[in-house]
Amino acid sequence: TNRMMSTRPKIYITRPDYHVEGTDLLKQECDVTNWSTACPVPRSELLENISGKSGLFCSLTDKIDKEVLDKAGPQLKVVSTISVGYEHIDIAECKKRNIRVGYTPDVLTDATAELTVALLLATNRRLFEANKQVYNGGWKSWAPSWMCGNGIKGSVIGVYGFGRIGQEVASRIKPFKPARLIYNSRTEKHNDIGAEFVGFEELVKNSDILIVCCALTADTKEMFNKSVFEKMKPGSIFINTARGGVVNQKDLYEALKNNTIQSAGLDVTTPEPLPLDDPLLSLSNVVILPHIGSADINTRTEMSRIAACNILAALRGGEMIAEVKS
Ligand code: DGY
Repeated sequence: TNRMMSTRPKIYITRPDYHVEGTDLLKQECDVTNWSTACPVPRSELLENISGKSGLFCSLTDKIDKEVLDKAGPQLKVVSTISVGYEHIDIAECKKRNIRVGYTPDVLTDATAELTVALLLATNRRLFEANKQVYNGGWKSWAPSWMCGNGIKGSVIGVYGFGRIGQEVASRIKPFKPARLIYNSRTEKHNDIGAEFVGFEELVKNSDILIVCCALTADTKEMFNKSVFEKMKPGSIFINTARGGVVNQKDLYEALKNNTIQSAGLDVTTPEPLPLDDPLLSLSNVVILPHIGSADINTRTEMSRIAACNILAALRGGEMIAEVKS
């Protein structure tokens, strides 16, 4: 067929390196163009290239707002993000224009819960701090109180946000024998691991380890701030694998520096990447990872496939694997 005459839907993909399991599916039925470099598409490129497209395959590094939708034009039918979080997409604007929004929940729950437990253990048992000593000569001999941390066993573990990921984190922690597993969430959730629903204040005050697993919304934005850190136990640990935006990062820095809390493990920060001169990087009681919660090969492959299927389904007017309904 003459490509000039193609009536196939036009799709824009914001990166060249989303797993081919998804992008190849799109290429079978659509005319696909993509940003060419393995880094987030510059805003100006996105604005230029979205014009005239029927579908957009994007990720959390792309801000999809009114301006992008205006540039796209009225034929845009679907925005599909390869993530469970969708705070980077203006859902209300999409809805107004009857643009459907796809996302990739469920498939990354286990990978993210695994990473959360890994980050927790790296933080409470000081793995990175200890590992550095092996290389910098700090390891002189076995010593009775050297590199001691606080185990999970016998501790009160608190989870904020008890959706898919929060529940999987809690059930993975259970075998470590915490004294109590408590959680706070918008609603009380039936669960068979014995996690107790408590109020937010009670969660914050009682947790030896507080783990954040909520979505970033207007309600959760910077909710972990000075007043929360001051209510936490002095020896407590703060873990965040949700979004950097749920934390007031300056307040967290102060709390860690002043030992208001003991330590923190973060897979998410503001901004990302964290600048090399960020004050958090000067502290030894924080473990920072570069937003790798879902970075498991099978998970990312499946996320790519689902993101593509969501686009194809929307173009056909059918049911998407996962559609943002709100
Ligand atoms: C998400 O899906 O929202 C994660 O942050 C990236 O996988």
